[in-house]
Amino acid sequence: MGGVTNHGNGAYNQLNAEGYLIIRQGARATVAPGLETASVDSPLTTASARNLSAFARRLLALPPPAEQQPAKVADFRYGDLSGADFPVLAWRRASNRAILRRAARLRYGDPQGSSALRNALQAYLWRARGISCTPDQIVIVNGSQQGLDLCARLLLDVGDPFVIENPGYLLARHAFVAAGGVAVPVAVDADGLRTDALPPARLAYVTPSHQFPLGGVLSATRRRSLLAWATGMGAYVVEDDYDGEYRHDIAPIPPLQTLDADTVIYVGTLSKTLSPTLRLGYLVVPASLRLAFCEAKRLTDRHAPMLEQDVLADLLASGAYERHVRSIRRKNAERREVLLRALADHLGPSVAVAGADTGLHVVAWMNGIAAEREPEIIAAARAAGIGLYPVSPLYDATVPRPETAGFILGYAGLDTEALQRGIAVLASVLAEHG
Ligand SMILES: Cc1ncc(COP(=O)(O)O)c(C=O)c1O
Repeated sequence: MGGVTNHGNGAYNQLNAEGYLIIRQGARATVAPGLETASVDSPLTTASARNLSAFARRLLALPPPAEQQPAKVADFRYGDLSGADFPVLAWRRASNRAILRRAARLRYGDPQGSSALRNALQAYLWRARGISCTPDQIVIVNGSQQGLDLCARLLLDVGDPFVIENPGYLLARHAFVAAGGVAVPVAVDADGLRTDALPPARLAYVTPSHQFPLGGVLSATRRRSLLAWATGMGAYVVEDDYDGEYRHDIAPIPPLQTLDADTVIYVGTLSKTLSPTLRLGYLVVPASLRLAFCEAKRLTDRHAPMLEQDVLADLLASGAYERHVRSIRRKNAERREVLLRALADHLGPSVAVAGADTGLHVVAWMNGIAAEREPEIIAAARAAGIGLYPVSPLYDATVPRPETAGFILGYAGLDTEALQRGIAVLASVLAEHG
């Protein structure tokens, strides 16, 4: 490669500064050694040298959830909350207080979460859920999803079987599968996970207060047999208490964690009471697992954002959070009433509703409509402005799925008019396509 002349301008100086050219006083500029023949075909850039990890390959083999714009008339997407329910004033006041407590130094926080929040949560969990734990057992995470991901990475090795409810929560299943776990689906019924023939596994993921999606509450007998199985197996139980705050016609159900604090990892979230956009959740872990969870959290992202943690701690300690929960519980109970009435009025016996006792969604089974017709009904509903989401993708593909079409109807994001209108429009869509 020959020398390069005419280097008295800015571009040459920049190439020199970045190490592409070597410019010496009185000599011709030359291309830096090793760059003369570099091209896009360099072995360093070929696909074979860029193989993804086994984790990435497992991850990419999982079906991504379908993302869509919200439907115009009524979107029954489960997981949405109404923006009108967010406690704007209380959050703003607590936020102002938190931001004005200016720290002298902006330094990294504790990976486990701020002690103010963990203390406030300990007291709250005792009052609201009967959980007795120390603040040291609490780990603040960015939503339950991060808690599930940490459980997957800390508790499963590649090839380890894990029990998952069938049907069940896809993002939990995916976190465990991506970590290399092998899903062993176990059927659920009206009493939650069936525990009569639990297979060998290293971990079980359950939603005992409100089985996702079918809504059963895990019976007392099954709670005992699940924990006995876990003890015998040396397995952990991951308890996802995602919407435990919402019980409508039934008495509070204490979490599994209260029965066996050494076996159960309790997962809680603020996504159903404040907002899914905050990305705030928490784990209550057995004392023996504390260090592993803290260090994994540190490597993941150091810690959850401090300002949000301080605001939440303030809301919990002042009682504002519980006042807010009481208020949205009433609002969601009203939405549920309106939805159930609208379903009865417009669809009557052609729909069988399941899982309405707790939570923020119900499952509507469409009597007499085959499951194969779900895509056609969903498309017709969307054209009429209704967002409908089927239950069938939440079933394991290796075991038979129900023959009847079923939809998950989330109601916490809709006002009462939208709920009434949405079901009326759905009824006309079904009359045309049913
Ligand atoms: C079963 C289940 N667990 C947990 C969550 C909440 O997840 P996150 O806390 O990550 O927002 C949801 C939300 O839809 C859920 O359905």
